[in-house]
Amino acid sequence: MEKANIEICNICKEPVEKIINGFSVPQACLCARSEIEKYNKQIEDIRQKKIMNKIIESNIGKRYYNSTFKSFNQKGLEEPFKKVANYTKDLKRMLLEGRGLILEGPPGTGKTHLAAAVLRFAITQGLFVSYGTTIDILRSIKDSYTPCGGNTKQVIEGYKTCDLLIIDDLGKEKITEYVKEIFYDIINYRYNNLLSIIITIENVEHDLINRLESALVSRLLDSNEIVKFEGSDFRIKKRHYNNL
Ligand SMILES: Nc1ncnc2c1ncn2[C@@H]1O[C@H](COP(=O)(O)OP(=O)(O)O)[C@@H](O)[C@H]1O
Ligand SMILES: [Mg+2]
Ligand SMILES: [Zn+2]
Repeated sequence: MEKANIEICNICKEPVEKIINGFSVPQACLCARSEIEKYNKQIEDIRQKKIMNKIIESNIGKRYYNSTFKSFNQKGLEEPFKKVANYTKDLKRMLLEGRGLILEGPPGTGKTHLAAAVLRFAITQGLFVSYGTTIDILRSIKDSYTPCGGNTKQVIEGYKTCDLLIIDDLGKEKITEYVKEIFYDIINYRYNNLLSIIITIENVEHDLINRLESALVSRLLDSNEIVKFEGSDFRIKKRHYNNL
């Protein structure tokens, strides 16, 4: 019953079949294996490009395109790192429950870096994430306004309904009645609909509690865990080490 000759690829000379219990079973030769590898690499490249496009679409700055948990130096920041990493590991449940984070600390301590790492992870999970500094968010809403209405409603709707909203540097803007109204609209909608927010802020007391209306403050403090970042400015530290 057994075949006398096993069929061999005439390019790489490897067998293209093997005999199991007298039956011929196809087997990938070197050429076939490298084709499969090339195909898998193409699929992975497409996946990575899609992720990158979504990161670009989120409006986060170029500096943070490659900000990941891996590229974060945990030294002195083990606690906040762990909290943000655990939140991310449990992202599905966190988002279902509308829970978010308030990353609080001085400039250059890696708050935006870790917010970007969560953003990247959420995007790989197929979620729609929107990012903006408070100033970006307000500007994008103002810029969308035209005398005939424009698409202001759609822009605001985007911030209200995305799976995860990241508001970077809250408290840096001037608070006018208009600003209050916009933020109340977005944050209240998200709170009522269990939609998560991640905020970065220098000081919760000064920039949140003392500045925003108590109705908003209580919503934000109710649904978000405060994660404190401490230490010196990474930007200055890096410059210092580069000059040594
Ligand atoms: N612990 C860290 N490990 C690696 N890079 C860091 C770390 N902290 C900050 N950075 C980098 O330094 C720069 C400033 O950090 P950033 O996250 O913008 O600080 P913050 O938002 O707290 O002001 C960014 O390029 C960021 O990637
Ligand atoms: Mg920042
Ligand atoms: Zn071959």
